Amino acid sequence: MHKIFERMRDAFRKLWKKKERDEHYISAKEVKQIARENAKEVRRLEDFRKRKNVPEEEYLTQMRDPRNIVEFDDLHTYFFTDAGVSKAVNGVSFDIPEGCVVGVVGESGCGKSVTSMSLMQLVQAPQGQIVSGSIRFNLGEKAYDVAKMPRSAMNAIRGKEAAMIFQEPMTALNPVFTIGYQIDEVFFLRDKNMTKAQAKERSLELLNLVGIAMPERVYSSYPHELSGGMRQRVVIAIALANNPRLIIADEPTTALDVTIQAQILQLLRDIRSKINGSILLITHDLGVIAQMADYVVVMYAGRVVEKGTVHDIFKHPLHPYTVGLQKSKPVVNQQVDRLYSIEGAVPNPIDMPSFCYFRDRCDRACEKCAGEYPAFVQVSETHGVACYLYEGGKKK
Ligand SMILES: Nc1ncnc2c1ncn2[C@@H]1O[C@H](COP(=O)(O)OP(=O)(O)OP(=O)(O)O)[C@@H](O)[C@H]1O
Ligand code: SF4
Ligand SMILES: [Mg+2]
Repeated sequence: MHKIFERMRDAFRKLWKKKERDEHYISAKEVKQIARENAKEVRRLEDFRKRKNVPEEEYLTQMRDPRNIVEFDDLHTYFFTDAGVSKAVNGVSFDIPEGCVVGVVGESGCGKSVTSMSLMQLVQAPQGQIVSGSIRFNLGEKAYDVAKMPRSAMNAIRGKEAAMIFQEPMTALNPVFTIGYQIDEVFFLRDKNMTKAQAKERSLELLNLVGIAMPERVYSSYPHELSGGMRQRVVIAIALANNPRLIIADEPTTALDVTIQAQILQLLRDIRSKINGSILLITHDLGVIAQMADYVVVMYAGRVVEKGTVHDIFKHPLHPYTVGLQKSKPVVNQQVDRLYSIEGAVPNPIDMPSFCYFRDRCDRACEKCAGEYPAFVQVSETHGVACYLYEGGKKK
């Protein structure tokens, strides 16, 4: 009797191991096959991106609404890895209107940074590639589709029309040059005839603008001689040097302590009114979004699951994921034993399900949710959501 039981147990283990192997194991042969297919696709996309002397007509486009600075339209950006194709950005569409702050929020790994990197064509190549979709950038008299632009033409946008502020200011600054040298350099890039004295004057003005009390001293300092908050102010000054139409701030306060965070946010707010440019603000901090943004885009697993005005998202959140994010935000003066967290994790971007990506974590999932990925529907002029609970634009 005991032996029969043991045999049954072994057979069950074998079966289980085979199942595990089938689901997660990739044989050397399969890896080679994936690598071969990836290499072919990456070569094709890289050749397209590396072309020189491409006529402007190829990437000239028209804005859907001329009041927008940027329009993301069904953007797909993938990473071609040996384990498979990782769909980091999988059909993202949203607009950045002129003079507005658009906040992008979502858990780690949802594709927020890859979306902004795609706009600057800074996705890690060759494995990272914009595969399809459009990123229309409004340059005033004309508009370019960044997704179709060759790398050689990107200097028309990068640093001039759009500038980035990164999470960790130390890595954005060069440790072997003075702050003054690094700001002056941006002016020289744009205007080769500018004199050293003129560049210095403009740099000091900028340092003043970003709230640095002793600009002369900071001008001749090296990055390591400044505090984290001061370094982030310098990075913001460099971003402002060319009066860009758009500033992309990717987690600009995450590496700073709370009091300095508040100062940098205040600075971003001041700047916004001074430059009349737009800001794409990426963060996982809903509090920052609530303070700063006019419009909010909620991303989950490479897709936009909900978007609307800051009022829509904070007062009438619709998608169960947005509701979960808000519930997990700590509230001042409210005592709780344990902070709420959304159970489960973001699905593997290499192996996305065909149904709603949030289904396995959703407490409101119904029978329909096992079907196709839900369509994005507008529930009002400004507010849209991708969830079966709002099919046809109505709350169920
Ligand atoms: N160089 C890379 N190679 C392969 N996959 C990458 C690479 N860079 C990003 N990814 C993948 O793309 C997906 C989206 O990453 P992204 O950096 O945009 O996330 P995020 O929303 O900015 O997260 P976080 O809040 O942590 O910054 C992730 O699954 C990540 O693993
Ligand atoms: S579609 Fe269904 S599973 Fe997905 S978020 Fe809506 S209710 Fe939840
Ligand atoms: Mg990021």
